[in-house]
Amino acid sequence: MCEYQITGGRPLAGQLTVQGAKNSVLPILAATVLADGESEICNCPDLSDVTATLEILRLLGCKVQREGGTVRVDTSALECSHIPQQLMGELRSSVVFLGALLARCGSAQLAYPGGCELGPRPIDLHLMALRTLGADVREMRGGLYCRNKGTMRGRELCLPMPSVGATENAMLAACGCPGVTTIVGAAREPEIEDLQNFLRAMGAQVEGAGTSTIRIEGGHPLHPARYTVMGDRMAAATYLCAVGAAGGCVQLHGVDPGHLTGFLSVLEEAGADLHTGQNSISMACTTPFNGVRPVRTAPYPGFPTDAQAPLMAALCCGTGTTMFVENMFSSRYRHVDELMRMGADIQVDGRVAVVTGRPLQGARVRGTDLRGSAALVVAALGARGESRVSGVRHILRGYENLDGDLRSLGASIQYI
Ligand code: UD1
Repeated sequence: MCEYQITGGRPLAGQLTVQGAKNSVLPILAATVLADGESEICNCPDLSDVTATLEILRLLGCKVQREGGTVRVDTSALECSHIPQQLMGELRSSVVFLGALLARCGSAQLAYPGGCELGPRPIDLHLMALRTLGADVREMRGGLYCRNKGTMRGRELCLPMPSVGATENAMLAACGCPGVTTIVGAAREPEIEDLQNFLRAMGAQVEGAGTSTIRIEGGHPLHPARYTVMGDRMAAATYLCAVGAAGGCVQLHGVDPGHLTGFLSVLEEAGADLHTGQNSISMACTTPFNGVRPVRTAPYPGFPTDAQAPLMAALCCGTGTTMFVENMFSSRYRHVDELMRMGADIQVDGRVAVVTGRPLQGARVRGTDLRGSAALVVAALGARGESRVSGVRHILRGYENLDGDLRSLGASIQYI
């Protein structure tokens, strides 16, 4: 079993360039199938979720080459629109291939998607969006069978909840639908703007991403494109939480601070000294974090659910009390019991967790999802003594080089 061995209590210092965004690159890679030919995606992070997505593309018949942070996907020989359980189960965002394959091939046959265990993760909004655009969607024998029987065309489509994945699926499918699709109630996350920018680079007529109404004039042939993925705001948030837990002074490059406004204001309230540049964030932390006003997770631009666990870990090492309300996913407190093994004072009641900071002690702990595992690393950096954090495979889904990056900032962390 792989784990990290971490000796806490060492302040972090130095500079890092943040990896490309996981939540952008996955739908962007799926979007490459919309055009016939070779697209080049730069700043592509080396993650197991990316490897799984590239496997899906290969299985569909695409030629895929990966050289460092550059991935080339040649879709000219795409011949199949069926993705089996084994690959679909690897990651949740595999579901965006539904929209992409419908647009390119007129059909898609997929098993149900996998991903982090954060409680029930329905895909009803994805299917509703595709049905509204006119797709014939059937759920049979544990699989999804979608076809365009010549009935798909641009329409107004209202999402009752701003689901990131459903918005992306609808955008991709709409590129293949003649006429104008308007997505009302769209998710506004920066990764959706990144997808829009890639689609535009392919020649698509898309506007409005970043607002709750996205307009797509579909049905035009798209061409392959070269595109650089934006920096990962969640990886950046994790590193800033690590500085909050361990103390120190760090400068992050390659991330837009405008994508983290709500999160950064919470760090400031906790006592961090922050300076932002156009594409950089500096943070100094000389005293332990203070408790802050209630942190309520919400769709963008609200406080991101993906930053809840790392922030909680940092606040556990500080002083004062903070209330968390997790509004996005029902099982997103699975890191809490593990933090308590390190001595954290946390009371959970349903969606609410109340954290009171106090010194933590290193322990053996186990992560069970991506951000929860990263949170345990954050806590271990702030704890006295040695910790062993298992569940590294979850971390490799979303962090390219978490241990190497933290070591370069002076942390004592080994992958064993
Ligand atoms: C994306 C992110 C994930 C982040 C989440 C919320 C990717 C690859 N993952 O996940 O890191 O935590 O946004 O910011 O981009 N829902 C439904 N029905 C649906 C779809 C969603 O009820 O068909 C609900 C979910 O259960 C959840 C909420 O909507 O409560 C938001 O989920 P959604 O925005 O779809 O998250 P993902 O796209 O899966």
